[in-house]
Amino acid sequence: MCGIVAYIGEKQAYPILLEGLKRLEYRGYDSAGISVINSSLQTVKKKGKVSELESVAILSDLHGNIGIGHTRWATHGKPDDLNAHPHLSGDGSLSLVHNGIIENYATIKQALIDRGHTFKSETDTEVLIHLIEEYKKTDALSLEHALTKALTKVVGAYAIVVIDKNNPNELIAARKSSPLVLGIGDNEFFIASDASPIIQYTKKVVYLNDEEIVIAKNDGTFTIKNIHNEIQEPDIKELDLKIDQLEKGGYDHFMLKEIFEQPTTIAESMRGRLNANEGWVSLGGFDQFQNRIHHAKRIIFVACGTSWHSALIAEYLIEDLARIPVEVEYASEFRYRNPILSEDDLVIAISQSGETADTLAALEIAKERGALLYGIVNVVGSSIARITDCGSYIHAGPEIGVASTKAFTSQLVVLILMALKLGNKRGTISDAKFRELLYGLESVPAKVQEILAQSDKIKYIAQEIKDRQNALYLGRGINFPVALEGALKLKEISYIHAEGYPAAEMKHGPIALIDENMPVFVIATNASAHEKIASNIQEVKARKGLVIAIVSEGDTTISKIADYTFEIPYIEEQLTPLLSVIPLQLLSYYISVMRGCNVDQPRNLAKSVTVE
Ligand code: AGP
Repeated sequence: MCGIVAYIGEKQAYPILLEGLKRLEYRGYDSAGISVINSSLQTVKKKGKVSELESVAILSDLHGNIGIGHTRWATHGKPDDLNAHPHLSGDGSLSLVHNGIIENYATIKQALIDRGHTFKSETDTEVLIHLIEEYKKTDALSLEHALTKALTKVVGAYAIVVIDKNNPNELIAARKSSPLVLGIGDNEFFIASDASPIIQYTKKVVYLNDEEIVIAKNDGTFTIKNIHNEIQEPDIKELDLKIDQLEKGGYDHFMLKEIFEQPTTIAESMRGRLNANEGWVSLGGFDQFQNRIHHAKRIIFVACGTSWHSALIAEYLIEDLARIPVEVEYASEFRYRNPILSEDDLVIAISQSGETADTLAALEIAKERGALLYGIVNVVGSSIARITDCGSYIHAGPEIGVASTKAFTSQLVVLILMALKLGNKRGTISDAKFRELLYGLESVPAKVQEILAQSDKIKYIAQEIKDRQNALYLGRGINFPVALEGALKLKEISYIHAEGYPAAEMKHGPIALIDENMPVFVIATNASAHEKIASNIQEVKARKGLVIAIVSEGDTTISKIADYTFEIPYIEEQLTPLLSVIPLQLLSYYISVMRGCNVDQPRNLAKSVTVE
């Protein structure tokens, strides 16, 4: 997600904006830019880190008492200098920064092109500033009223700040679904995406509400209005958070913040991609190559780590729902084993970072051998996004914690949509099943919220496990990969050795490990294999193993035999991994904290393994 910072007052704006952008670096981004007003409107923007912007800005002598700054997390248009914010109006008099997505930007853009506007970037943001300019000119409106009118025409989320070269006495900002904070200083105002760039100057803040606009002037006055031009009484608060906590949104660690973001990020990964009532799934990358995709004889997933686990879940779903043969490969093995490939193969790479060296190398081999390449990636414009023929971004926002959480669930959403789209097109699932699973998907954010509300129960169980040296995770069918993911989470951030296993495999060796010192986590939410998983639990209990079971709401069988039981809300079996993984994420988080480990940057690990 992008970062915004703006200033108007008696000081020089540039140093405040630059420092503010550095405070927002934790949000993750791929480009940055600043506009200031003096006798003219000066704008400098650059792909890359804030430090690169700084090295270019130093040549431009950016001075003036009003300005706006932005760090971009690309959603529309690759990361480059042209797509970086701020974006200017056609006549160069207005400059705007934006955090959010204008969903109907293409329609608006075409209408503006028809009225003679030309665009420099691929972004939805540039469309917005041109729309404001159009209303300002054709309707002879003030900047405030042109902005208000434009905002009634856009669909989507926005946090914006706009300045006008011809009226350097005011900053105007507005928000809907993306946060904005107003900082109130002595004869100066700060506006930012969160309070971290503001707190060193003032603790007096106003958190803007949805569809509110603020006009901040260099005479020390400000006004807040709603989109209907009605003045709102500001709710001024006193900040009591430390900067470090602010960057984590008040959470103690990025990983916990990202676990709790999942109701929102799962909803974001679905936005505009499905409609249960009307019965459709839309995956942009898919539609461009649907002939080759629908005629693929085989689907091969290449991935690493958590992304490899989501690929395993996709294998169950696509083979079950679409009846297409699926293979799941560790990218690091695939790249060296001289794989047999042809143009009838669809090779899908899953990668949060889009930069994992082994996954990239696997794609290069698949490309050489004629396969169609599809990417399921979080970072827009990343290497994997660029090498693939088509793909779908998961829109999870920057994932800062090394242990992947929200990216995993957003990957699953895209993979489930892919399986449903393939099955629906090939007629291998009934329309009723298709809609049932779409309705189920639409219910996931609220159900994840229900689970998160019970985090204290997980914390209690974590106390029991935190001093153990080993752990086993068991699951059947679609929950076997969830067992692998739970085990990976625990070992990578708490350093407890943990293994995931298909539950039925226990009798082929691992059961020798079971004694009173071995906690066994069992994901037992499968309706289809309930009796079998219950007997697996009995086998563990018979050997004094400690059993912690994740079950579906209302399960009264397993709660009688397991030592601890955590219930997740009922959902269709194919969708259970989206819910059953949440308690396992929380469990590994709490155990890591209790063991004093570095949750966000565990030892020996990197967020993106860009080397072999
Ligand atoms: C998962 O928690 C780990 N951080 C790691 O296994 C990660 O999933 C793996 O390195 C793949 O990364 P990618 O999704 O960015 O390709």
